[in-house]
Amino acid sequence: MIAKHIQEFSKNAYCYDAYTSLQQEVAHYLVSHISTQPQKILDLGCGSGAVFKNISWPFERFIGVDCAINMCNLHPKSSNVKLMCERFESSHLFETHYDLILSSSALQWADDIVALIHKIALSCKEGAFAIFTDKTFDTLYSMSGLNRFLPNAQALISLFETLFTCKVETKTFRLYFEDNLSKFRHIKKSGVSGGQKQLSVTQTKALITHYPYDYLEYEVLFVWGFPK
Ligand SMILES: C[S@@+](CC[C@H](N)C(=O)[O-])C[C@H]1O[C@@H](n2cnc3c(N)ncnc32)[C@H](O)[C@@H]1O
Repeated sequence: MIAKHIQEFSKNAYCYDAYTSLQQEVAHYLVSHISTQPQKILDLGCGSGAVFKNISWPFERFIGVDCAINMCNLHPKSSNVKLMCERFESSHLFETHYDLILSSSALQWADDIVALIHKIALSCKEGAFAIFTDKTFDTLYSMSGLNRFLPNAQALISLFETLFTCKVETKTFRLYFEDNLSKFRHIKKSGVSGGQKQLSVTQTKALITHYPYDYLEYEVLFVWGFPK
């Protein structure tokens, strides 16, 4: 069965770029802090190409993996770009060695992010990752008492520091909205919610009425490093 959030991404692929200003900013920040010029690159959860569009150095081969076909269709194509429409957990992806494995705004939805990061560390010379953490939608979670499902930044940092010699940074972002209804529409359309329907209609209405800020909060963990 296809996981729920993947259906959300596919369905929203055409209007996706209009809702992804944040993901684009994240991808830009991630890629602009890579100072080497890796030649063989694997992008996990490549989406419509935010990472690819920020690579400014000449490279030999770029492999983008995304399980949403509509996203792959939107990704820029070129003779040295290969797109694979499949899950980034597929073990055959890690039978090859890459100069750089990167992933922006996608790894938080891995089936088992710990196992995946272990596999990544064995398959690359260098890694760069931007991962949404459980401080995303912090106020909303605090108000509703819902269980947070995104990974915790500190737990991820400990894992990365075991496997990589790395630089880490957590950044908080705020996206401003005209009203609460558009905030909740954004949560749904951006795919950031993971497509999880955890709130009842009554709870959603209460949040839309009482949410206190004109912004939503996001926390992103950035990691740049070299496997030990
Ligand atoms: C928020 S988008 C980010 C896309 C792009 N990296 C960017 O920075 O704009 C997350 C992407 O990860 C993909 N994705 C989520 N889980 C996946 C999985 N297990 N395997 C492959 N792709 C996955 C989704 O289809 C979606 O295109």
